[in-house]
Amino acid sequence: LSKIEIKLSDIPEGKNMTFKWRGKPLFVRHRTEKEITTEADVNLSELRDPQHDKDRVQNPTWIIVIGVCTHLGCVPIANAGDYGGYYCPCHGSHYDASGRIRKGPAPLNLEVPYYEFPDDDTVIVG
Ligand code: FES
Repeated sequence: LSKIEIKLSDIPEGKNMTFKWRGKPLFVRHRTEKEITTEADVNLSELRDPQHDKDRVQNPTWIIVIGVCTHLGCVPIANAGDYGGYYCPCHGSHYDASGRIRKGPAPLNLEVPYYEFPDDDTVIVG
């Protein structure tokens, strides 16, 4: 399937759920207020691959990224690592709750796929 439809009310606040999309893991994370504020306030000069959180989300409650580490392609673990976002155990890359690389060997942020919200409870990725 080239598109996947996800019901957002199935994902509790603070949780990341993993789906399979085009043969890859897809992460959909319902961020907490604290995560939203923290990521919006990050100074771009701290970032290896500088991107403002607002350029990575359509709705700050939801971060939607491909769950493939940009180093060598392992699947990161959610809600882990020094920045509380994602941690790749293969060689120790730490991503924040916007999926941005913060520490470790990965060169780039987790990829944001194309998606849209047809209504308040649904996202369609692809
Ligand atoms: Fe993730 Fe190497 S594949 S740190």
